[in-house]
Amino acid sequence: MASLLFFTFSLVFLLSILHGTSSLPIVGVTYTPTISTVATAANPLPPPPPPPDRVSSTINSLKFPSVRLPNSDPSIIRAFAYTNTSLLLSIPNTFVPALAANRSLALRWLYRHVLPFYPRSKISLISVGNDIFDTTPDFSPFLIPAVRNVHLALHDLGIRKISVSTTFSFFNIITTAFPPSSAQFQEPAGSLIMKPLLQFLEDTNSSFLVNLYPYNMYRLNSEIPLGFALFQDYPFNFRDDLVTGVRYKNLFDMMVDAVISAIAVAGHENIPVVVAETGWPSSGADASEVDATPAFAEMYLKGLVAHLRSGFGSPLRKEGVAEAYIYELVDKEVKGTRSWGILHQNMTMKYNIQFSNGCKNGVGLRILSIIVVPLIGFLVNLFFVANG
Ligand SMILES: *[C@@H]1O[C@H](CO)[C@@H](O)[C@H](O)[C@H]1NC(C)=O
Ligand SMILES: *[C@@H]1O[C@H](CO)[C@@H](O)[C@H](O)[C@H]1NC(C)=O
Ligand SMILES: *[C@@H]1O[C@H](CO)[C@@H](O)[C@H](O)[C@H]1NC(C)=O
Ligand SMILES: *[C@@H]1O[C@H](CO)[C@@H](O)[C@H](O)[C@H]1NC(C)=O
Repeated sequence: MASLLFFTFSLVFLLSILHGTSSLPIVGVTYTPTISTVATAANPLPPPPPPPDRVSSTINSLKFPSVRLPNSDPSIIRAFAYTNTSLLLSIPNTFVPALAANRSLALRWLYRHVLPFYPRSKISLISVGNDIFDTTPDFSPFLIPAVRNVHLALHDLGIRKISVSTTFSFFNIITTAFPPSSAQFQEPAGSLIMKPLLQFLEDTNSSFLVNLYPYNMYRLNSEIPLGFALFQDYPFNFRDDLVTGVRYKNLFDMMVDAVISAIAVAGHENIPVVVAETGWPSSGADASEVDATPAFAEMYLKGLVAHLRSGFGSPLRKEGVAEAYIYELVDKEVKGTRSWGILHQNMTMKYNIQFSNGCKNGVGLRILSIIVVPLIGFLVNLFFVANG
């Protein structure tokens, strides 16, 4: 009887995992073509970026379902027509005050970046600004009105399927990641900006976008083991959140749950979280970055993709993040900067990683349920038979 109960329990548990596979996180990539600046002897001008069609066909061949375009160059948006790749566009921070002041300027941006291409190019989300607190904190009072105006301008055009949000950087908004359950939004932005923004996101079914780099957290906190930041599974390689009793096996989940906690403390439970940027550089800006190596970058990216594909979500949210974008498609190879690319500048692969979702529709988990569930039942039966 007990074994039957246990068997039923295992089955229900595995079916609940299976059920969750329909919403595996989307793994995308960011593409930010190099903006050519003035060449110097020490820093010669990088070669021009590849043609947009080459970029779009490369992203298709790598089977990324989604791409984030922080520069939102119209020629690149056009290159994704009829590809089924969904696009996350971004409006530069410098436009935010004007967009907040005047909705017709929001319309003007949409006339140039959305209307000529949509819906042939599958634009799904527009981020108004990127990490505004870092580069242009004076503009932050304009952020919410700007986000609202872009949303209203889309409605003026009869477009209702494109969501609007903004993008933040983890370190500029969250108080702490240790433990995740005590994370909050930093004040005064928490009350002034996050509260109305979260309400807007909830009302419009949009998502919370955050750039999140375990690499930077690891560099700031020397007590974090490297393997914990790189998704390596060693015995004792975990951190417990003593408040919730939850065990963390990697730094990414800790940071994601810190964001989820902060959103919950602000009074919102179900807003999807999108990691707008994450990655690990294969070379650093200077000699102090000893952990910026191709081997560690590959470990991080492999670990990230496997973790997102596992369907286990994060400890505080069973579906985990909705989407995560790997920064960045192509290396820039500008001296004195980090190399983030998953491709060399000549567009060849740097790493041996399958970015596409090899486990589509939960086939892997279905096999797991076919094999493992009966096996558990069998073992449990054995146990009870043996113990009389
Ligand atoms: C895009 O998706 C549609 C519907 O799923 C499919 O019929 C079409 O072949 C896809 N196109 C490409 C280029 O993958
Ligand atoms: C808004 O922008 C439009 C077009 O640029 C301009 O004609 C209008 O005067 C502006 N309105 C305000 C209140 O600035
Ligand atoms: C948000 O999504 C829910 C459920 O899918 C739907 O009922 C609701 O109409 C949507 N709201 C908006 C503003 O799109
Ligand atoms: C591409 O660039 C990488 C790094 O610079 C180099 O190792 C590789 O040989 C190049 N491949 C081709 C086909 O040019």
